[in-house]
Amino acid sequence: MTTSVVTMEVLDAIKNRRSVRKYLPTPIPEDALGRVIEAGRIAPSANNRQPWHFVIVKDPETRKALSGGKWASFLQDCPVVIVGCGDTKTSPEWYAVDVTIALQNMVTQATAEGLGTCWIGSFFEDKVKEAVGIPGGYAPVAMLAVGYPKETPKVERKTKKVEEVTSQDRFA
Ligand SMILES: Cc1cc2nc3c(=O)[nH]c(=O)nc-3n(C[C@H](O)[C@H](O)[C@H](O)COP(=O)(O)O)c2cc1C
Repeated sequence: MTTSVVTMEVLDAIKNRRSVRKYLPTPIPEDALGRVIEAGRIAPSANNRQPWHFVIVKDPETRKALSGGKWASFLQDCPVVIVGCGDTKTSPEWYAVDVTIALQNMVTQATAEGLGTCWIGSFFEDKVKEAVGIPGGYAPVAMLAVGYPKETPKVERKTKKVEEVTSQDRFA
């Protein structure tokens, strides 16, 4: 089994992350993938209900079936797709938020592992349900493409200034 080492600090991982849409076919070492999943598994959730299930998809045919959305074609090329599913019965109010937090934890850990990721909201719910067999009571919230990057988008990009997105004591 190949191993890899975590070296990046949290803020560096957050700052350096960019959406990656071109991937190498290189498989992800199981230990690195395990840490990515672990980062999601231990995420906070409302009432600690952990209303989630993550389907780790490596099978090429299944990835192809997941890639039908307008902005999702590259799911065919990345080695792993993580389908974040929410338990809509256990936590009807918060499942989407909780799954999102868990997936973003995975994104940050993946960046620290030297992996690229991209959030995927562009999907047809029924097709995703069918492709990975999501049962009643669960809904796909979002997917993540994960793999070693074949492109390195610049870290600098258009982001809102801190003054635009924060205010002191009252919304202003
Ligand atoms: C909830 C969510 C859904 C997204 N869906 C897609 C998608 O379906 N396809 C895609 O290529 N990028 C998708 N993105 C990536 C955004 O386009 C990207 O995060 C944004 O342009 C900022 O670029 P950056 O991630 O490189 O900072 C999504 C991002 C989020 C947070």
